[in-house]
Amino acid sequence: MRRDVAGAADLPALYGFAQRIWSPGGRWHVGELAWNLGQVPDGRPEWPMALWEADGSVLAWGWVVRPEDELSLLVDPARPDLVDEVLDWAGTVTTGPLTVTVLDTERHLVAALLRRGHTADHGGTFLLAHRRDLDELPPVPRLPAGLTVRPVRGEADLVRRTAVHREVWHPSQVTEERFRNVSAGWPYRGEFDMVVEAPDGRFLAYCLGWYDEVNRVGVLEPVGTLAEFRGQGLARATIEAVLRAFREAGARTALVSSRGDDDYPVPRQVYAALGFTPYARTVRYRRR
Ligand SMILES: CC(C)(COP(=O)(O)OP(=O)(O)OC[C@H]1O[C@@H](n2cnc3c(N)ncnc32)[C@H](O)[C@@H]1OP(=O)(O)O)[C@@H](O)C(=O)NCCC(=O)NCCS
Repeated sequence: MRRDVAGAADLPALYGFAQRIWSPGGRWHVGELAWNLGQVPDGRPEWPMALWEADGSVLAWGWVVRPEDELSLLVDPARPDLVDEVLDWAGTVTTGPLTVTVLDTERHLVAALLRRGHTADHGGTFLLAHRRDLDELPPVPRLPAGLTVRPVRGEADLVRRTAVHREVWHPSQVTEERFRNVSAGWPYRGEFDMVVEAPDGRFLAYCLGWYDEVNRVGVLEPVGTLAEFRGQGLARATIEAVLRAFREAGARTALVSSRGDDDYPVPRQVYAALGFTPYARTVRYRRR
């Protein structure tokens, strides 16, 4: 019942599965999958991926990133036995020792890893998962004179939208073609992709939100302000605009993950300032 993920045609099944098993302690919101996988929807040779299915339902997913040999996985909590199958498969597509990254709240995955002799490595870089509820939102703050916050307008904004992302994350792998792919596919919606625009039309900051209407939860991925415009409230303006758009769409909760280690502390301070609370962290498991 395992099959390799062959390309874009398989992504809806994966996304639907992620929504079906999503829980507050889960690592992968459908938007985070779409941001990572939808840019190159036909897959990459260094990213082997497989789905496990029965009776037309997806029950598990595994994704190995080489050459790091790092496995990410989703397994239906009702079928914890499949964790073994995903780990066995990952062992066949890696050359070095396997690293498995999970959220510490994914108890069924952690239990299986410990049972198989993997041990937790809490050192190094890690991601901190944050959430905030959307009951009470402050008004979107005023920006410095001349700047406006607004949702992107599709293809007309594509070049500038890609440019602001690339400049924030330089050197970035996100090209115009990749941004076009991800924004053409479900579940991207421009109303959750907010930018700050300067009078000359340049985009100075952005926050890309993704909404899962099944679970009524939005996620921010990614967020950025050009270096020379930081500390002026631009991220606050884009993020709060996305939070309001989530709430108008029916969301009850918003999530965001950021680095949690002290080597890259600013984003977690920004999310704390914006009312987010950490609730889980990623942990790497390896076999001795
Ligand atoms: C994280 C980032 C988007 C913040 O953008 P920004 O426009 O400078 O943030 P803002 O000015 O809107 O600040 C928002 C809040 O965070 C706080 N904050 C901002 N920078 C901070 C810093 N360096 N240290 C501590 N707090 C900080 C601000 O005090 C503000 O809170 P306040 O309004 O209560 O004062 C920006 O630093 C960035 O693009 N970094 C590189 C990309 C990145 O790491 N993105 C996050 C991925 S998870």
